[in-house]
Amino acid sequence: MGSKLIVHSLLRAILIVAFHVLALPSLFAQLSTPDHLAEPGFWPTRNVTSREEYVGSQVCASCHAGKVAAQKNTSMAKTAAHAGDADILRATAKLNFNVGQFAYEIRSEGSKSVYTVSDGTHSLSFPLVWAFGTGRVGQSYLFKKDDGKFYEARVTYFDTLKNLHFTPGRELDAPKDLQEAMERKVPAEEIERCFACHTTAATMGTHFDEQKLMLGVTCEACHGPGAKHVAAAQMANVAGTPDAARGTIFNAAQLDPPDTVDFCGACHATFWDVKITEAKGVATAKSQPYRLEQSKCWGNGDARLTCPACHDPHQQLVTEAAAYDRFCVNCHAAGMKKTDDHAGAVCQVATKECSSCHMPKVNVPEMHYAFTDHRIRVVRAGGAYPE
Ligand code: HEC
Ligand code: HEC
Ligand code: HEC
Ligand code: HEC
Ligand code: HEC
Ligand code: HEC
Ligand code: HEC
Repeated sequence: MGSKLIVHSLLRAILIVAFHVLALPSLFAQLSTPDHLAEPGFWPTRNVTSREEYVGSQVCASCHAGKVAAQKNTSMAKTAAHAGDADILRATAKLNFNVGQFAYEIRSEGSKSVYTVSDGTHSLSFPLVWAFGTGRVGQSYLFKKDDGKFYEARVTYFDTLKNLHFTPGRELDAPKDLQEAMERKVPAEEIERCFACHTTAATMGTHFDEQKLMLGVTCEACHGPGAKHVAAAQMANVAGTPDAARGTIFNAAQLDPPDTVDFCGACHATFWDVKITEAKGVATAKSQPYRLEQSKCWGNGDARLTCPACHDPHQQLVTEAAAYDRFCVNCHAAGMKKTDDHAGAVCQVATKECSSCHMPKVNVPEMHYAFTDHRIRVVRAGGAYPE
């Protein structure tokens, strides 16, 4: 039985791979995140070996002040908080959601937030411990019980609702009891993954440390441990040869285009991370690497179209459509010939705000949010969402 299953899934994997290698040759270069993590060297979300190799963003600030000051204000830097410091909870005394017989509530006072679920007769309450997500799209909450284990609240805050609704993927039609209505117990390995994407240096070897981690996606989440670089840079400064500091810390600028997209995909999900889950439909719109790499624009990969080509990861997200035009006209400009490196056609319809038509916002119902579809394309009225 077991071996039959293995053969079956192996066959399926081979078929999926064969199909995509034939149909989408450009995706051959991409890997899943577990495959990248199996390679030597730094990669985002890798467990740290020793906390001592990490110095914290304040130390980077002594030489890269501008980057540190700007990065602090990004959603990535602010994506995890102790519940007591979460702006949304501090600003809202009461959040609630009612479904069937169940009433969900989060009440906040001072620096304390208490999560309560009631079925009309009985109720359960626990103080919240962690808030994940800035609330730009939404914010989910973790709490602990006497067993010391982590539980995820069944409800999440959504910005478009300015209130609570089911945590994405956790909706239950008929919870068997109050406890099931309230929570999902999160296995320890999964908790480590949440913190690996939302905080910096949370797990040392096999030891998850809630006290020593750094909140949010900070410098060393993307550049790896910095102690060696800081020592080298200090020596280089003294010697008056600042360039000697180069090559002593990980810099994604050295990666080829497919790896650069996979790099951001360590957290935003790579093409193969999504493919393996067999996710379908509009829910895939929130995986920008998966969608982008299926655009005709991407071709076999192009440095002018990687994630950091359009988004400076040290700056806040730019929301004006016109600001992205210059990236499109790198390849779609009058006068470019088909023979130019990876040139595209010129639009007959408009000359500005390209992304507003060709990167449509796609509503993902369970997220109560319209994500930007990174599969760049011509959108026809009434056309289906291309898989
Ligand atoms: C003592 C000063 C100093 C400190 C502290 C420092 N850096 Fe640097 N860093 C430099 C210098 C000098 C360079 C090379 C020249 C340049 O880019 O300005 C550099 C280059 C870099 C590069 C490019 C490396 C390359 O090979 O392309 C990255 C990435 C970087 N630093 C990140 C960091 C991070 C993250 C921290 C904090 C963990 C940090 N630096 C702390 C001085 C410093
Ligand atoms: C260590 C994990 C991690 C890595 C690596 C990562 N991200 Fe993120 N990113 C996140 C998380 C978590 C959020 C959600 C922030 C929130 O709570 O709103 C996010 C949000 C964003 C946003 C939305 C920001 C906003 O202000 O609305 C952009 C844009 C983004 N990431 C771009 C990138 C790019 C580009 C790269 C690669 C250079 C990258 N990310 C790599 C974890 C990561
Ligand atoms: C593989 C990395 C990864 C893991 C694991 C992960 N997240 Fe995230 N999370 C992200 C990224 C990236 C975003 C930003 C998505 C976007 O907006 O494009 C995000 C966004 C969020 C948001 C805001 C909603 C949104 O789409 O912006 C919440 C809430 C959240 N995560 C909670 C959690 C919780 C709770 C866990 C663990 C149970 C978890 N995440 C595990 C990477 C991860
Ligand atoms: C979300 C991932 C991410 C985070 C967080 C991040 N960086 Fe970077 N950083 C990158 C990428 C990607 C590049 C390469 C940029 C490119 O390809 O244009 C880079 C490049 C750099 C460089 C080299 C710039 C150059 O011109 O050679 C320095 C210095 C740097 N980062 C410092 C920092 C510091 C300091 C922090 C913390 C405040 C930080 N980074 C946080 C992803 C990140
Ligand atoms: C051609 C330019 C371009 C490239 C390349 C690009 N993006 Fe975007 N991205 C945009 C635009 C435009 C928006 C929408 C900004 C807005 O309206 O708020 C956006 C929005 C986002 C958001 C905010 C959430 C959302 O869906 O609106 C995230 C996160 C993000 N991009 C991540 C990425 C990642 C990761 C990559 C690499 C796979 C990437 N982007 C590549 C142009 C680009
Ligand atoms: C690296 C170069 C490059 C960049 C950057 C680029 N494109 Fe393209 N784009 C192409 C190529 C090449 C094609 C395919 C042309 C063909 O097949 O004839 C294409 C195709 C297209 C198509 C037709 C797609 C279809 O489904 O028929 C649209 C629409 C488009 N691009 C819009 C954009 C927009 C909008 C941007 C900026 C957000 C952009 N492109 C950025 C190179 C690029
Ligand atoms: C108002 C919406 C809108 C805006 C803004 C817009 N386009 Fe288009 N674009 C379209 C439509 C609709 C088509 C399909 C035309 C047709 O085939 O009937 C199209 C077609 C294209 C094509 C395919 C052309 C071909 O011959 O295959 C490309 C490439 C393209 N646009 C690029 C761009 C770029 C680059 C920008 C910004 C400079 C832009 N578009 C701005 C709506 C828009």
